[in-house]
Amino acid sequence: MCGIIGYIGFRSAKEVLLKSLKRLEYRGYDSAGVAIVDGKINVAKKKGYIDSLEFDFDGTLGIGHTRWATHGVPEDRNAHPFLDCKGEIAIVHNGIIENYMELKEKLIKEGHKFKSDTDSEVIAHLIEEHYNGNLKEAFFKAIKELKGSFAIVAISKNERKIMAAKKDSPLVIGVGDHENFVASDIPAFLEYTNRVIVMRDGEISELTEDFVHFYDFNGNEINKEVQIVEWSIEDAEKSGYEHFMLKEIYEQPFALDSTLHSLLSRNDMNFDFGRVTIVACGTSYHAGLVGKYIIEELLRIPVEVYYASEYRYRPNVADNSLAIFITQSGETADTIAAARKAKASGNETLAITNVVGSSITNYVDKVIYTNAGPEIGVAATKTFTAQLMALEYFAIKAGESMGKLSASHARDLLNSLRKVPMYVENTLNLNGIIKKEAEKIHKRKDMFFIARGMNYPIALEGALKMKEISYIHAEGYPAGELKHGPLALIEEDIPVIALVPEDITYDKMLSNIKEVSARNAYVIGVSSSEDVGKYVDTLIKVPSTEPHLSPFVNVVVLQLLAYHTAKLLGREIDKPRNLAKSVTVE
Ligand code: F6R
Repeated sequence: MCGIIGYIGFRSAKEVLLKSLKRLEYRGYDSAGVAIVDGKINVAKKKGYIDSLEFDFDGTLGIGHTRWATHGVPEDRNAHPFLDCKGEIAIVHNGIIENYMELKEKLIKEGHKFKSDTDSEVIAHLIEEHYNGNLKEAFFKAIKELKGSFAIVAISKNERKIMAAKKDSPLVIGVGDHENFVASDIPAFLEYTNRVIVMRDGEISELTEDFVHFYDFNGNEINKEVQIVEWSIEDAEKSGYEHFMLKEIYEQPFALDSTLHSLLSRNDMNFDFGRVTIVACGTSYHAGLVGKYIIEELLRIPVEVYYASEYRYRPNVADNSLAIFITQSGETADTIAAARKAKASGNETLAITNVVGSSITNYVDKVIYTNAGPEIGVAATKTFTAQLMALEYFAIKAGESMGKLSASHARDLLNSLRKVPMYVENTLNLNGIIKKEAEKIHKRKDMFFIARGMNYPIALEGALKMKEISYIHAEGYPAGELKHGPLALIEEDIPVIALVPEDITYDKMLSNIKEVSARNAYVIGVSSSEDVGKYVDTLIKVPSTEPHLSPFVNVVVLQLLAYHTAKLLGREIDKPRNLAKSVTVE
């Protein structure tokens, strides 16, 4: 998984590529590189962040890449772009070429010399093998030989054009005046144009400064429509916050409001199913677990939740089940593979995603978009709460259309959702208290997050946020399970964060808190009940909500706790080590 950009026009390619790569850095940051045509192809590439890339050449046609390593360690030699043997062709690639070994061996026999350990380098040599002075022709021939997933952008020193191909990795075109762009994601070029064409799998595009033509892999020309993107570039930048993650945490009231409003305007939410299967990864999986509680409560039908990477080991089952795929990026390879499998098994499929036109939307029957705006911080925050909103809305609409909820009950529930942005806004006011708690716990090596019922997935999410950005070992547990093993790990001063909503879990949660307090744990209670203060070391008193909405406020506390802890530890909050924003490998 990587970020790629191509530019052809009249501006300084150096400036465009570097700015665009900064905006794509969330897709991977193991290495960065550019190739710019100026009579010859000049290349600069380096292990590490884009800021460490220094060069003094320029031109008006170029390509760039920011890498998340899959084949080959993060080293200068494995950084993109890659050149052919003669230095006439340069390519950047996002994805995995599955048959690269076979192609590489063949090309080596033909006399090609390889400089990297990557699968991607084979593409430059393959184009060279077919090149006869016509990049377009050679590109088409090379693409036909590739197996796997790819977004590829190629240039030649001899022709003023860019060729791009897409299969299972994202690629969008930015249409300008006497300039055009191709990139993995829209923010890469949004500063220059908001006219966008989303490429679909099996498409090739040819760009000059004055036109963009589209073809299928057989060379048949395709007509495609330009879409206007309404976000501003500020939406994709930090707006004065120290980190994207903090900005995105604070954007939640707005993201939730705009998600709900976009959902309320839909009139195609009619469903009929006997069971639900939810499939997702990471934070989106936790949203799916909350979704299980919501759907089972409102619809009284069974819901199973799978990690996407495990779903593939399930036998093919067509069981009148609606399969829901939750993925903020819409590009997670495991989730896409699972969607394909569910569809092949004959299930009706629905995706919940934040990215319009993302890959998952090609593989499902219906899409619900969260409207949270671009999320740049690697740790998912506003897209998670937007997913919860989408699941609440889905359950209400499905319940209504299947006759499981009366119109008035559905209306009351929808009205309760309108209050969520305000609940979250009020929770954000607790930032100061949460920061003080982070000061108390940030030096600890281990932490526990406990809850029951629909807040149990929020405990998992709190632990995941803490692990991924602070690198502290954290475990989320159903509170009732502690005494079946993990209680042995509770010792003096170990932080235990207990979620105590005023719902059916309340009394039992207090008993579980007593169990850990008796072992001298440092207990932080998160509750709307003042009374909980008697049982814990510190109470973070959250706004009181309808019981089914407590996950929205509790998760915001845990996001801020993880953020401040990571900040006190001086971590790379927006780009935690070993991680990338969208995981396009299985
Ligand atoms: C954690 C996080 C990841 C993602 C996971 C799935 O903060 O962001 O766990 O939730 O990689 O990503 P999407 O939702 O894009 O499929």
